[in-house]
Amino acid sequence: MSDKDRPTGAPWTRREVLGAGAGAVSLAVIGCAAKLPPAREVKAEAGEVTIRLADAPELAQAGGAVALKVDGVKKPILLLRGEGDAYRAILLKCTHVGCTVGYDEAQRALVCPCHGSRFDEAGAPTKGPAKEPLTVYPVTVEGEALRFRPA
Ligand code: FES
Repeated sequence: MSDKDRPTGAPWTRREVLGAGAGAVSLAVIGCAAKLPPAREVKAEAGEVTIRLADAPELAQAGGAVALKVDGVKKPILLLRGEGDAYRAILLKCTHVGCTVGYDEAQRALVCPCHGSRFDEAGAPTKGPAKEPLTVYPVTVEGEALRFRPA
């Protein structure tokens, strides 16, 4: 019996209760695998965010990431180091229905805790239901600083 077929006040069957429990467990597993490091508050100056590499030791190696809460931007942004000097600033807003996406550093994947969508380090979807890529802001490296413009 689905929820829409259920008469008001009808008791849950054992199968329905166990099925709901399995769903909760799978959501918990998704949630545990992809955590978001505490976001640092930063301000954009003239629309541009600047992060000194000396202030972000997490970015010393590929796969390292720093979560940022940029003044005026509703969702956190993950500043992520790919291979070499490939940095990306990724808006952590899922393109399915807008949940905040987490980062699984071990698997180097962005994972949405709401319905399980996954994205690669470039923000491209690798598992649905999300079909569109995450918003990625280009990052420039200028000496010892990283700069990007969250639009
Ligand atoms: Fe992210 Fe649904 S909101 S998968």
